[in-house]
Amino acid sequence: MESCSAMAKINLNQPILSPSPLPRNTISNLLHPSPLFFSDRKPFPSFFLKLQKQSPLADNYIEATPSIKCHATLPGIYSEASTLADIDWDNLGFGLIPTDYMYMMKCARGEGFSKGELKRYGNIEISPAAGVLNYGQGLFEGLKAYRTRDGNIVLFRPNENALRMRAGAERMCMPAPTVDQFLETVKETVLANERWIPPAGKGSLYVRPLLMGSGSVLGIAPAPEYTFLIYVSPVGNYFKEGLSPINLVIENDFHRASPGGTGGVKTIGNYAAVLKAHTAAKAKGYSDVLYLDCVHKKYLEEVSSCNVFVVKGNTICTPAIKGTILPGITRKSIIDIARGLGFEVLEQLVSVDELLNADEVFCTGTAVVVSPVGSITYMDERTAFGDGKVGRVSQQLYTALTSLQMGLSEDQKGWIVKLK
Ligand code: COI
Repeated sequence: MESCSAMAKINLNQPILSPSPLPRNTISNLLHPSPLFFSDRKPFPSFFLKLQKQSPLADNYIEATPSIKCHATLPGIYSEASTLADIDWDNLGFGLIPTDYMYMMKCARGEGFSKGELKRYGNIEISPAAGVLNYGQGLFEGLKAYRTRDGNIVLFRPNENALRMRAGAERMCMPAPTVDQFLETVKETVLANERWIPPAGKGSLYVRPLLMGSGSVLGIAPAPEYTFLIYVSPVGNYFKEGLSPINLVIENDFHRASPGGTGGVKTIGNYAAVLKAHTAAKAKGYSDVLYLDCVHKKYLEEVSSCNVFVVKGNTICTPAIKGTILPGITRKSIIDIARGLGFEVLEQLVSVDELLNADEVFCTGTAVVVSPVGSITYMDERTAFGDGKVGRVSQQLYTALTSLQMGLSEDQKGWIVKLK
């Protein structure tokens, strides 16, 4: 069932434009509702042009009527999605690998999102005056889909991402998808890109939902229109070290967040703010940067891409969530798992002194999973942990978490959502 809303030329010959063809009735993929335009062609530009010229159906367009909403589905996707993509699954890192489809839905300020649609993955066109470009009105999420050994496809705690996006949207004056919409659209996008989910044990499909002010503004104001978009990419380890310990440097001058700011939500600007320190640290050979609180310059906040935990004996401490630290879903899961394993877990202020006197330090995040820390450099002095080896506690927690995520251990907590 389709109805369409923008004046558009629709190429009924769409199936030949890409390696995994769309069915003929996917006309909405070629519509470009204003002001955000999603181009299907970007990944295959020369192929597209060549086939447009050669095809006997090249003139086979239909005109779509203006002002009707476009709700087309892509019924042929799921069968074509099951053959694995032909990429080097053994060497996945954390870099973008474009896949077949992305999801998009829009709404006006003051309204809720209604149904969106899957589209061919590709570049988007956006107004130069969009709120997200001018005033950083944007949020993102990160979650992962796994292929399990017994052939299932599972998501890890996606409802937590939905809730976190809703909390962030409230802070950033944006409408957000409901939890159900978030879950449904994530599922749809993952299944449409099924062939890009790594084989069991070789990585995961990283799902990146974005929420942005796509409408135009000139003076400071919430944008008049919002776009929710999901794209995905197969990924392996975030740090090149893999599960080997990473080397962090403590940043003394730049801060990631301040009280009353946006450090506690996943807004895009938080990540732009760390780029300078992060780039400088990488150039010196560090894996990432650990930030301190901006008032006392004494208490740990988080790492650019993840939360931090400090182990001393049977006690594990992590900075408390108080508005400047991202409430990580992996952080929350690890706290729960560690308590279940008999550790005392404290969420409180953690000082640099406590950190440097720890038995073990590790980081957690969706992208980084559980990443042991091998050394911390503070004021040019390096403190090493664990003789370059993965700490016992980090290893134990890593194994417990990943076994659950990959379907190797029983999900007693109801954290796993099965898609297939
Ligand atoms: C994630 O872990 O999903 C994040 O959003 C961190 C990002 C810097 C990769």
